Amino acid sequence: MKVTIVGAGNVGATAADVIASKSIVSEVVLLDIKEGFAEGKALDIMQTSNTKGFNTRVVGVTSDYSKTSNSDVVVITSGMPRKPGMSREELVGINAKIVKDVTKNILIHSENPVIIVVSNPMDTMTYLTLKSSGLNKKRIIGMGGALDSSRFKTYISLAINKPANDIQGMVIGGHGDTTMIPLKRFAKYNGLPLTDFISEKNIEEIVKSTMVGGATLTKLLGTSAWYAPGSSVAYVVDSVINDHKRIIPSSVYLDGEYGFSDICIGVPCVIGKNGIEEIISLNLNNEEKLLLSNSVDAVKSMNESLSDHI
Ligand code: 2OP
Repeated sequence: MKVTIVGAGNVGATAADVIASKSIVSEVVLLDIKEGFAEGKALDIMQTSNTKGFNTRVVGVTSDYSKTSNSDVVVITSGMPRKPGMSREELVGINAKIVKDVTKNILIHSENPVIIVVSNPMDTMTYLTLKSSGLNKKRIIGMGGALDSSRFKTYISLAINKPANDIQGMVIGGHGDTTMIPLKRFAKYNGLPLTDFISEKNIEEIVKSTMVGGATLTKLLGTSAWYAPGSSVAYVVDSVINDHKRIIPSSVYLDGEYGFSDICIGVPCVIGKNGIEEIISLNLNNEEKLLLSNSVDAVKSMNESLSDHI
């Protein structure tokens, strides 16, 4: 199996590293426009193969899309990351052109890949990729919910001092500081409600920290995060390649589900070999429905700025 990652920046290279380290596929192609950059990252990752003990071949290329041919999964990370103080939404104009070009080039060499979109603003870039690719909606997955849910579970784990692996939780809605919805009602520690361990006030604080999880790191690092985003990409790729059918909140095209259409936004999905195998319908209460509806409005108004690109 073969995965291509377009964009060898922090997130793309980390995703390649995690995918290789876990031997998820036999070949990873890392592509970047910066001369020699992807080659360097790929070689550096390859030089960990003996100490880590993996056999995945990681190949770096500069803009040579022919090397991406017949990819099963393509991850698009290209574009500008946000700087401190910037919202993900401010990147739309710059990144739309890049993402559209990448999609076109990918499809010249791979007929029907599953495409995972990471570039920000992610929900809008996912919508653009779907519209410009002409692929079946099940094959376009926006990666944001995996990351936001991982941040949510990490904050819960730290607050209740229990292993993150034993925490269940998900974040739906848009992948934006004000549009994401950490579903506190659905968060559990081994099936037990969080209120058995911490107060409502603490849970609210966790929700707030989750929503600005990316912005907090951008402030600390001077650019956007990469370990958690890269690892979340690998988690989604693994579910596709190995047909794990994990439930992962992902930005997906809605066609009536949750009462919305013509939008890509985060909802829980079963992710398997065909991409989006199923959209899970959660029984949301009125408060959660309102939050989702506000999130949909915000993402839709962002999508309007795509009119020059679709
Ligand atoms: C983040 O939330 C990269 O959008 C990504 O860190």
